[in-house]
Amino acid sequence: MKLSAKHLISINDLTKKDIELIFKTADKLYRRKLSALRQKTLAMIFEKSSTRTRISFEVAMTQLGGHALDLTTTKLQASRGEAVKDTAAVVSRYVDGIMARLYSHEHLLEMARHSSVPVINGLTDFLHPCQALADLYTIKKKKGLKNVKLVYIGDANNNVCHSLMHCCHKLDVNMAVCCPKKYLPDEQIMKNTHNSIKITDSISEALKDADVVYTDTWVSMGQEKEAKKKIADLKPYQVNSKLMHLAKSDAIFMHCLPAHRGQEVTDKVIDSEKSVVYDQAENRLHVQKAILYLLMKK
Ligand code: CP
Ligand code: NVA
Repeated sequence: MKLSAKHLISINDLTKKDIELIFKTADKLYRRKLSALRQKTLAMIFEKSSTRTRISFEVAMTQLGGHALDLTTTKLQASRGEAVKDTAAVVSRYVDGIMARLYSHEHLLEMARHSSVPVINGLTDFLHPCQALADLYTIKKKKGLKNVKLVYIGDANNNVCHSLMHCCHKLDVNMAVCCPKKYLPDEQIMKNTHNSIKITDSISEALKDADVVYTDTWVSMGQEKEAKKKIADLKPYQVNSKLMHLAKSDAIFMHCLPAHRGQEVTDKVIDSEKSVVYDQAENRLHVQKAILYLLMKK
């Protein structure tokens, strides 16, 4: 049992079968501790902050019998200008897998080209595949994936939205994106998903019959300079109780976290019974265990 790709850089590189295999493996490994990756090491390279990704990957390696190295780039020679190519080639001589969270998606692709071991995307400015896989796994558990409608609302030129679009397209899940025209998803993602995902700036149209309402921060890491403008532009798209009422009465609320309470979502919604954000965060661990197992087990 293997994935068809050596690396996990984008869900666009996976097949529907790959995703189903990840979910099946996650079920199999759920809350189990085993020695499948005994003596194996994962290098975790972080250029940006992280709570969930950092902890869930490290715990996943521990539960699989291996070890994870928490490497922040400020501690690496990369921070003094060592080329991505050299870092990738050297690190991959020591370890069995690399998980990297970088600003530039191009740098991650370069890392994968020069690494002799699997490289996993732990978020770039462009994509966040591990998040979207955990999210669809969560929806599968809560609602099933048949006849479910997921609505992503807010800043759609966003790594999480892009990977959700890839994942829904691959799994034939009905998804709509609701955003102002200025914050549309990247053209490349529209092409990858063959325009199969409805994009609208109308909140009532998007939310009609929604089973899942999903949002992410309006100011992603690295966009701090644009914060004021984005917060003003996106204000009408805040997920509040009034907006949740436009979805189905049993709709759930999702957010990859960290949330900026009072901006993209109100306390009332994120703390409500509809909110599944902590289950979603927990599922990062279960799904990433499956990813590590499938990519790193001999
Ligand atoms: N959702 C997510 O990736 O969280 P962290 O930034 O805390 O890793
Ligand atoms: N879009 C957010 C996701 C954080 C997990 C960011 O890139 O900051």
